[in-house]
Parts: sequence; structure tokens; C-alpha cells
Amino acid sequence: MRAILAIDQGTTSSRAMLFSADGRQLASAQQDFRQHFPRDGWVEHDPAEIWQGVLSVCRRAISDAGLAPSDIAALGITNQRETTLVWDRASGEPVYPAIVWQDRRTAAFCQSLRERGLEDMISARTGLLIDPYFSATKIRWILDEVPDARARAERGELAFGTVDSFLLWQLTGGREHRTDATNASRTLLFDIHEQCWDPELLALFDIPASMLPQVMDSAADFGATRRDLLGAAIPVCGIAGDQQAALFGQACFHEGMAKSTYGTGCFLMLNTGKRALQSQHRLLTTVAYRLDGEVTYALEGSIFVAGAAIQWLRDGLHLIAAAGESEPLAQRTAPDHGVYLVPAFTGLGAPYWDPDARGAIFGLTRDTGIGEIVTAGLQSVCYQTKDLQKAMESDGERPVALRVDGGMVANNWLLQFLADILGATVDRPAIIETTALGAAYLAGLRSGLYDSTATLEAFWQRERRFEPRMDKPDRDRLYAGWTRAVARIHGN
Ligand code: G3P
Repeated sequence: MRAILAIDQGTTSSRAMLFSADGRQLASAQQDFRQHFPRDGWVEHDPAEIWQGVLSVCRRAISDAGLAPSDIAALGITNQRETTLVWDRASGEPVYPAIVWQDRRTAAFCQSLRERGLEDMISARTGLLIDPYFSATKIRWILDEVPDARARAERGELAFGTVDSFLLWQLTGGREHRTDATNASRTLLFDIHEQCWDPELLALFDIPASMLPQVMDSAADFGATRRDLLGAAIPVCGIAGDQQAALFGQACFHEGMAKSTYGTGCFLMLNTGKRALQSQHRLLTTVAYRLDGEVTYALEGSIFVAGAAIQWLRDGLHLIAAAGESEPLAQRTAPDHGVYLVPAFTGLGAPYWDPDARGAIFGLTRDTGIGEIVTAGLQSVCYQTKDLQKAMESDGERPVALRVDGGMVANNWLLQFLADILGATVDRPAIIETTALGAAYLAGLRSGLYDSTATLEAFWQRERRFEPRMDKPDRDRLYAGWTRAVARIHGN
């Protein structure tokens, strides 16, 4: 049996999955890792813990599937995007913990760039906005703050990578320093039209070009794993950022198709084909995938907190013991309870882009209980998706259908409310872990296990469709309450 191994290195857990030649899932192993919050707005990960966790889930998945390492035709990597690592090329040692995409420590510097009127130029080249979310200001922070780092970088001793590059470096024993175009497109240093690192942006952020990985197609020969790590030299044939991988795993290969992934955050992505559509409503233009040198673009709305809000209700407030409890609780709660939870724990993403905003709960009354607060948490995920849908519509784009995925979409109540508040059809596929699937598809395409995207399209199966049932006046009234709540924490 020939299989593809996919690594999905996410914000809170690492997962390895094996898929067969007909797209079936053969095994899956997952491991959580620690989140570090050294200061308000700072979020870090331990690179060694990430690497060890990835290795151990790969080994577990291979052994659970009863496969020999030599049965694995190729490996695909997908990853939390933007998270920034800098390591020493000689020793492989990171010079600082990974600065996570959610980290806001560079907010003041971003503000100063905006005040210098640089946003239009940066946005025209990178498709992004000036926000601490992206890698560039995080790299600069490391070079400025870690003793000796800048001098070492200038001597060519340090390498930068997003998590995919770091894992590839580790897997290949330091032989390959590469990334793919989707991950590069999240750094604020990559010209998405010319498909190259932009020298002017590198100068602006004071980042030596020698630190950067080589940018490849998303399905390419990235290098082979060191034989002793997984028992065979497995070729790494696919890399994509996790949201792009989910779009690929959802088989959204045609212009107008969209997916929304509910993991730690929520990311709505619309395939815009060959058009790098520049949003007028603060959405991002990004590389959806690059195959055989051909770029497919996407319009993206990024929300920083979705599943993380439910995690907070569980682990921070202890209102529920397990995420699954939120569904029956919401079913028993009238949706019209008047409570709004705005989970801006690490600021607000699209379309507000306010790194200084912080979360709040509004509309509490004496009879507000756990049910109302947990339901408001679920509803916040849907309202935020609505914010993105509205921004996309204002840009003149309306997805033909919305495919959803990620751990949260097992919750039927959530998806019904989502369809209701969007006033749009929501489709849940049979496999909801589409991120890993997308990485496997990319690796499988390159290694020849899958012959074309048409084959992959045929693998996609709908498990359930959710149709909107709410009347428009109710939808409008509920959503108006949300926009009032956001207005109270935004721009203060
Ligand atoms: O841009 C951040 C994103 O890639 C993180 O994804 O699935 O960990 O929420 P996730």
C-alpha cells in the first residue's frame, strides 16, 4: 500500500495523518503543546517542543496505520502561518522562541509605519496590511532585541523561517532552507505579483536577504527526510500554509469557491483564480496555491479568535468541561438572549485590524447564566464570519457556496446559526480535517499518487448541508447588536 503522510502543525496542537491513494484517512495522531504568554499581547511557542511533538505524532501515525516507513510515497507539511522562527544555520538552535501569529508586541512599530503613509505601497506589493500579525515586524524585533542577533544575521549565520521552513530544515537535517509561495505570501516581504522577495521591503524592515528561505511551488521537491528520523528517506513534496491547505483539501479549485476554517481562529478564503483582487474593505490578497509556477490567488478574511473563545470558556472560565458541551447548552438557550461576547483577546483582525482592542462581554443581566455566555461565544464566531462575508460582498464578491471545516464544525447548532446569520448555504464535508488533507493532496500530486486536481475534486463529499431558516428582520437585528458591541471596543 502506498500512502501520503501529512503534518499539520497548528497553533495549539501538532497532528500527523496518513491518507491512501483513494483519499481515505488511514491514521491520525495528535499532540497539544504549551502556549506561553510572557506579557499582555505576547504569544510564544517553544520550537524544540514543536519539533519533538511533530516527530512523535508522525511516528505514532505510521505505527497505528501498520505501515512500513517505505510505504510512504511522500510527505506534505501544512502549518500555522506567519509564526516566526530565527535559528543558527550551524547549530540549528533557535535564537529566540517562536513568535506566534497572534502576538501583538510590534503594534507600536506597525502604527509608526502607517503614520509614515506606507500602507498603500506595502499592500499593493504583498496583498497584506500593516499589522503585527505578519512575520516581518516579528523578525525585525528578534534582530533588534536578541543580543548579537543582528550582527550574526548580517554575517549570514542566521536563518528565518515560518514553521514549515523550520520543520523542513529539521526533517532534512539542515540541508534544505525552503518554503512555498503561500507561506512566503504571509511575511509582508514577498511580492505576490512578481513572486519574489522584495528588496525594498527587506530594507524597510531591516532584514538581511541571506536569512530568507528559497520560495518554491506548493507541490515541489523540497528535499527528503533524514533516514534515521522516520525510518526512511521520505520525499517532502507539498507545503502550504494551513488555511491555503484547507482550501485545497476542500477542493475549492475554481474561482468563486470558498471555505471557512474554524480552528484557533477563523479564516474565510475565496478562490479568485488568476486575479489578485485588491480589497477595498480591508481583506487580504494572498497566494492560494502555486502549481507548476502558476499562481492561484485568494481573498482572505482572517479572524484571530474562534475555537480559542470556546477554549477560554472551558479552560479560563471553567463554564464547560468539554467543547462538545457547548452544543446542547446553546440548543437550550434562546438565541435572542441579548448577550454579546467579543473575543478580541489579541486585538481584532479583519475587517477592523485593531491590535489594541481587547475582549468584552455586553448585555449582562441578573438572569444571564452559563448558557447565555457560552451561546454568545459560539455566536461570536458566526457574527465574525458575517463581518467577513459583508466585506467580501462590498468588494463585489459572493462565494457560490461556503464549505466549512475545522474541529468546531462538528457542532450542528453552530453551523445552523452560521447559515442563519449569513443568510447563505453552508456545506460540511465528510472529512472536516481538510487542512492535513490539503497538504496530503499537494504531496500526492507531486509524487504521482494523485494524478490531477480533477481526481481530488471527485474525492470531496458533502456530509450535510445547512440552509438558512431565520427571517431577515431577526438576522438584521441580531447582527446589528453585534456591530454595536464591536464599536464599543474598537478604535478606543
Ligand atoms: O494565520 C494563522 C493561521 O494559519 C492559524 O491557523 O488553524 O491554527 O487557527 P489555526
